Amino acid sequence: MLVDIVEGMPQGKALDLNEAGPVVGYEPNVVGTNGYEETAGSDIVVITSGFPRQPGMSRDDLLGKNKEIVGGVAREVAERSPDAIIIVVTNPLDAMCHVAADVSGFPRQRVIGMAGILDSARFRTFLAWELGVSVRDVTGFVLGGHGDTMVPVVSYTNVAGVPVRQKISEERLEEIVQRTRDGGAEVVKLLQKGSAFYAPSAAVVEMVDAIVLDQKRVLPCAALCQGEYGIDGLFVGVPVRLGAAGIEEIVEIDLEDAEKEQLQRSADAVRELVEAMKTL
Ligand code: 2OP
Repeated sequence: MLVDIVEGMPQGKALDLNEAGPVVGYEPNVVGTNGYEETAGSDIVVITSGFPRQPGMSRDDLLGKNKEIVGGVAREVAERSPDAIIIVVTNPLDAMCHVAADVSGFPRQRVIGMAGILDSARFRTFLAWELGVSVRDVTGFVLGGHGDTMVPVVSYTNVAGVPVRQKISEERLEEIVQRTRDGGAEVVKLLQKGSAFYAPSAAVVEMVDAIVLDQKRVLPCAALCQGEYGIDGLFVGVPVRLGAAGIEEIVEIDLEDAEKEQLQRSADAVRELVEAMKTL
């Protein structure tokens, strides 16, 4: 089910997707609509509604406008699909998770933000290019908020089990970490209009698959921490086990001191946004 307020747009997208079915191999059952009635009883709802970034804007600049939009959508969703799992994609991501959680009243297992998989995918892409190896062999993840303070966790990053620090200098790694942090902005700058589509949607699909197929994947997602990593009452990107129940566990790992500090700083940035939202 695709919902958008723009008349004809979800219907057109649905038709286009249905017509790909015979080639790709799925039944043409996608429905596009401008209302929420047809979404009743959904198992999973992905919220992407909101204004995207324009060149020069930070994700945080979208706070006020997107708070209203995500809050409105979450209200419609909670009314009609009280048992759904919500995946939030709208920016600023971590703050919008708070909005969706507050408005829906859903427990933390069922409100999840998509960011860590995308940021990690960017990190892994740049590392694979650097070393001339397949992305399949690059394991690494990004924690923290989906913003300038995100934390690519170098200490656990490896290529086929080999720590990446054995292969890439600290200096070069820092450049790759920075490119990862700027990954969204790099795409926005090139496109000039709108932000990334393909990598974010691939990340959402990975999360949806993990839930629908009860895969128990361990993936970095924005989750409401309640003491984990010393963070309380904030949505921050952390490794979670994703399965049929949604977030089945927040997986705690030992981080290096510098990484711990960076994660706290990132959580502080999320806290600032959440506080700022209260005045909007
Ligand atoms: C990104 O990083 C849209 O925030 C999203 O591309």
